[in-house]
Formats: sequence, structure tokens, C-alpha cells
Amino acid sequence: MTSVLLFLLFLLPFVSPFLHPGLLVTDADISRIKSKLELNLDPWQSSWAKLTTIPYGQPDYTNNAVSGVYRDTANGVTENAELLWHDAAAAFNLGLRWKVEGKAEYAEAVAAILTAWGEKLENFDEGDDQYLITGLQGHQLVNAAELIRDYTPFVQNGMSTFTAMFERLFLAKNLYFLRHEDGSEHNVKHFFANWELCNMASVMAFGIFTENSTLFDFALDYFKTGIGNGGINNCISNLVEEPGTGKTIGQPQEAGRDQGHTGLDFQMLGVVAQQAWNQGEDLYSFNNSRILQGAEYYARYNLYNDVPFVPYTNGIVSYDIISDASRGAFRPTWELLYAHYAQVKGLDAPWTEKYKNYTVTQMGGFEGGGGSWGEGSGHYDGLGWGSLLYHLDESDVAAMKSANPSSVSDVGGRSTTANVPQTSISSSAVFASTNALLSDVGSTNSLFTAAATVSTTKSASPSRYSVVVSPTPDTSTSVVSSSHVPVVIVTEYVYTCG
Ligand SMILES: *[C@@H]1O[C@H](CO)[C@@H](O)[C@H](O)[C@H]1NC(C)=O
Ligand SMILES: *[C@@H]1O[C@H](CO)[C@@H](O)[C@H](O)[C@H]1NC(C)=O
Ligand SMILES: *[C@@H]1O[C@H](CO)[C@@H](O)[C@H](O)[C@H]1NC(C)=O
Repeated sequence: MTSVLLFLLFLLPFVSPFLHPGLLVTDADISRIKSKLELNLDPWQSSWAKLTTIPYGQPDYTNNAVSGVYRDTANGVTENAELLWHDAAAAFNLGLRWKVEGKAEYAEAVAAILTAWGEKLENFDEGDDQYLITGLQGHQLVNAAELIRDYTPFVQNGMSTFTAMFERLFLAKNLYFLRHEDGSEHNVKHFFANWELCNMASVMAFGIFTENSTLFDFALDYFKTGIGNGGINNCISNLVEEPGTGKTIGQPQEAGRDQGHTGLDFQMLGVVAQQAWNQGEDLYSFNNSRILQGAEYYARYNLYNDVPFVPYTNGIVSYDIISDASRGAFRPTWELLYAHYAQVKGLDAPWTEKYKNYTVTQMGGFEGGGGSWGEGSGHYDGLGWGSLLYHLDESDVAAMKSANPSSVSDVGGRSTTANVPQTSISSSAVFASTNALLSDVGSTNSLFTAAATVSTTKSASPSRYSVVVSPTPDTSTSVVSSSHVPVVIVTEYVYTCG
């Protein structure tokens, strides 16, 4: 009655190189998009038609690079931040055209935008608003750069200019902010969750782009244990019982403030979790899928249903009731959350599904992206294009669920064709498949022959089974540094009852 559906192997980045492109878009995503476009299927076709006709998707797009970017008119400067967010959106859109259409002119256009900013940018607002730029536009610029990491002229001429600027102006501030070193952070929960989430997304993106596992790990760790409001347990601050079903849903930290910013939290949680997922780290499932618990709460309330609200106070703000300001706000992120939780994971996500449908309807048939669905900062907080990048149809889901393990697709992390029946998960089978993967990435494969402990956990859902392997690494090989022991490999088997 059971058959192996998927066999995913999650490797920490020090074992295998980082995967590229591996931020919000992978090669698997690009292949899927291409195959849908060949067949003129929607929502991909409509999304693509839009992306390729807006000004922010044209190869002759002219960058707007300047030396100072300001969100606020204060301290004698004039607000001009749209110059950067327009360029970041154009760079990402053109990067997608490079991956899908393969013409050098698109990659060249992205390189021109990123290099121009690398050469000119010097400063941001003096006040706190600078941290919105470093987070929101930070993660976007790196996502664009990641898409042309395979374009040699950029790698040879522009990438180091971009990277040096980013490290100095964005990354340094991302880290300063998340370490609560700014004077305005007299209380570590001073800033609402979205401020930290976007800065986490930026650090993580840059860590992956530059293959810096210290940065990648910093972002993962902040997500799991961060003491500010970007830490997931603070971001989805209270667990409550859903009326009628008794299910546990999660009250978001910004729910008493307004729904527009709360929606931004889910948009940024999606970015953080998907970037990590594409490197084999599953933040989506962290703490009982806390992101999903929050998404279900948000979607239920924003579709005009009641939710319980626990009075919230953090020393800076207090809310006794949930806010109905901007109730029903939508942003492109629900395709991603729905596809991941309901389709990839097979979890129950009824409100998330409804909110995905609602968002798609509100946006005219597909989730738009930067430059396609309106002006103003909120339309450019994230890169969007969720229907193009993440929508899965029945054939995609069926392919994932195929009982034939040799057709397992790479849905995140590394996949292997190993066929391990549920009844006989054994350490030797895990070692064999792990070693097969390691030889695949060109490293030595004696790591996992050493003694290891294997623990298996059957999760609440009867169809899921995880295996955690903590092998004793062979530190004589060059791929494992002593600073990274112990190696922990999480292998996840997903079964279906047929
Ligand atoms: C990773 O990033 C940190 C923070 O910028 C830096 O100190 C460190 O040198 C980087 N590591 C590598 C290997 O580049
Ligand atoms: C999961 O959430 C609960 C409730 O917020 C918290 O007490 C617990 O520490 C969290 N677990 C982890 C691993 O973060
Ligand atoms: C969402 O939309 C899809 C496609 O139109 C439809 O098949 C599905 O039933 C809808 N789901 C809900 C919960 O309304």
C-alpha cells in the first residue's frame, strides 16, 4: 500500500557546494516554465506575456543608478527609492528572460543594471528606513545577480564591483540591524517582523550567492532562534485554536497593527523559506510548519472569517484586538505557500488555498511581479511572479508522486533515485544513497562509511517519515572541516497510501 514517492536528501552546504541558481529560482523551475510555455499553458503563458511586454522586462531598459537612495524626505534629501526598486525588478525580470529564452542581451542588461549600482551607490537614508532598503531591495538585487551567475562576461567584469558594493552597503547593514546594534533598537523587539525578515532574506541570499556558509547559517539560525520579531516563534507570536475545527493556527506578530504589513510578513517568510529550501534546508516545516499555521490564520481572517486574538504586547506596542485595517490585502506569495505546503508536502492548507485563489483572482489570473501590478513601495517589496515560478498543475504533482523513484524530480535539496522501502529503512541504505550523491557532486565518498547514529521519526501525518543521520565524519578528507562536525544529514522519505 505504500510506495516511495520522493526521496529527498538534505545536505548541509559544507558537504556539497551551494546549488545555483538556488535562491528563488532553480533550474527545475526554469525547465518547468519552459515546458509550460511550449504548450501555451496558463497561468504561465499569461504571466510570461506580461513579463515580456512591460518596460521592466525589456533588454533596452536603462538603469537609474544614483549615489544615494532614500525612502524618506528627511535630512535634506528627496525620496527617490523607486529608482532602485524599479531597477531591481527589471534586473530580476530580465534575469528570468535570460534563463528562459537564453539570449545574451538579457543577461547583458541585468549585468549593466547591477554593475551600474555597484559603481555608483554610496548611501541610504540616515534614519531607520535604510533598513527597509537593505532588506527589501537587498534580497532582490542578489536574486537578480544569481540568475546571471552563469553569464561569463558578468562574472569576469562586473560581479566583483556589485559584490563589493553589496557587502559594504547592504550586507554590513543587514547584519548590524539583525544584531540589534542600531541605537533605535533599544528593545530587540522594537521593529515589526517584516523589517527583520527582509534583512534575513538579504543575508541568506548573499550567503548563497557568494557561497559563504557563515552567512547562510546566520540567517537559518536567526529564523529558528532570533530574539527579534523576525525569529519565527516571535513572528508568528501566538498559537490559537481555529474556531470550528480545533486546529492550531498562528497569530502573526503584526496582526494587531494592520493586514497589509502582516501580508508582507508572509511574503518575506516565503522568500526566506524558499531560498533555504532550494539549498536543502527545510524552514517551512520548522516547529510544526509554523509558517503555515500563520498563513492559515491570516488567510482565514482576511477572507472575513473570525479568528481568536490573544492580546499582544512586546514592550513597544500593545494590541487588544486584531486590526481590520487593509483587511483583504493581497501580495504575490500565496502561489508559493500553497504549492509548497499543499502540493509538495501534501499538507492540509484550506485557507491558504482559498487565499491563493483570491489573490490570483484579484490580480487578474496570475500573481504579478515587480513592474506589472502597480506602483508604490508595496508593489515592489517582493519580486513576485508566483504563478509563473511556483504554480504546479496536476501533471507536475503526479510526476512528483510517481511511484517510480527513478523519476523523482529535484523539488529542493538534492534528490536521489535510491529506492528504500518504508519497512526497511536502514543505515546502510542511507549511507549508500548519500555516498551516491556525494560522488555526484565530485567529493570523496568515504564520509559516511564511518559509524553513525540513525534515528527515524514518523511524523504525525501517517504518510511522512524522516530519517536523521548523524555520521561520524572522516575529518581526513578535505570536504569536511573540523569546524563543521558533527555532520547531520536529514533524509526525508515521503510515502503515499495507494
Ligand atoms: C563570510 O562573510 C563574513 C561576513 O561578511 C565574512 O567575515 C567572512 O570572511 C566571509 N567568509 C568567506 C569565506 O568569505
Ligand atoms: C515551537 O513553538 C513553541 C510555542 O511558541 C515554543 O515554545 C517552542 O520553543 C518552539 N520550538 C522551537 C524548536 O522553536
Ligand atoms: C481554487 O481554484 C482552483 C482552480 O480554479 C479550483 O480548482 C479549486 O477548487 C479552488 N479551491 C478553492 C478552495 O476554492
